[in-house]
Amino acid sequence: MKSTNLDLKNNFDQWLSYFPKALDQVVEAYDMTEVIEKAGAVTASRLATILGLQPKTLDVFCRALVASGRLAKSGLSYTINSKAPSDHSTNSDTESPNSKQVESLSQRIMTVLKGGSSGLTVDQQDITSMWKQGNISPKVANSFTKVMHEQIQDVADLITTHEGFQTIESLTDLGAGSCAFGMALKRRHPHITVSCADLPTVCAAAWPYLKSSAMNDNITLLPLNFFEDTWPKDTCLHFGNILHDWSEPELSFLIEKAYSSLPSGGKLWITEALLTPDSCAPATVVYFDLLMHINHGSQQFTQNHLTELVVGAGFKNLEKMTEAGYYSLLMAIK
Ligand SMILES: C[S@@+](CC[C@H](N)C(=O)[O-])C[C@H]1O[C@@H](n2cnc3c(N)ncnc32)[C@H](O)[C@@H]1O
Repeated sequence: MKSTNLDLKNNFDQWLSYFPKALDQVVEAYDMTEVIEKAGAVTASRLATILGLQPKTLDVFCRALVASGRLAKSGLSYTINSKAPSDHSTNSDTESPNSKQVESLSQRIMTVLKGGSSGLTVDQQDITSMWKQGNISPKVANSFTKVMHEQIQDVADLITTHEGFQTIESLTDLGAGSCAFGMALKRRHPHITVSCADLPTVCAAAWPYLKSSAMNDNITLLPLNFFEDTWPKDTCLHFGNILHDWSEPELSFLIEKAYSSLPSGGKLWITEALLTPDSCAPATVVYFDLLMHINHGSQQFTQNHLTELVVGAGFKNLEKMTEAGYYSLLMAIK
């Protein structure tokens, strides 16, 4: 049976369902409820000063508390939400099945709040620096590609139904991972020439996915480091879950490189899970934003933020084309 938007949202909600408990543990550790009550309405930067914590991280954290119903936000100020749900109290005596995840996340949030770093590691290797240097090991490439494939394949399947793909002739997916997007696109629109670019070890990790879907003759794998190597000359480029991995200056570098690689009239397609304009909803995407902040020092985007970046690089307006679960497909023309 095909996944619907609601199924996709439910899967994503399930994945990050341990967040509210971890947020509560951090709130308790810093007596935040008492501090905010005492201060009345307080901005994240004021709260950061009172508690001696990092303002940027505290801002993302406070938005996550708004998303989970613990705080209310008015303008830049946060207050205690008197109607806060009590269903994720930390006072329970029984260990929940995900208590290890909760404990680990709350520790990582506190490390970053205190100004330390707690980047995503696999086998004790920091993923963001391996991506930057392009030297990800085969073992890490295999395990990360598997996780991403499971998360994104149903989204890719739904998002590629968009009619805007009917009129394009070719597309290169940059940072393609398992090629889930490329395979879905090719299945839906066999006339499109599809290339999937990623680091060499990730292309090797993608091969079994292409082979088991009998797509290995239909899609070209392009091993490259998108920071250092020249990109293929194509009329369409796609970034799926790529921009959210990077902060400045890498973020603008990738968008500017997309602009200079495309011909006039070429299209940049972007798939990302977007935040609402106030960055406080949907709850699961705000938790994802916090996760990206801890994992990579990066972020999820509002549509306005992405538009500023893309238009700032020279593209015409960024348009939302369709949605799949929490994900949006956007497109900008050079
Ligand atoms: C979050 S995953 C997204 C994968 C895929 N687009 C998806 O949505 O499932 C980020 C991808 O960017 C790739 N990547 C990271 N740094 C890269 C680099 N320097 N050059 C090429 N690809 C890179 C990673 O290997 C990984 O496959």
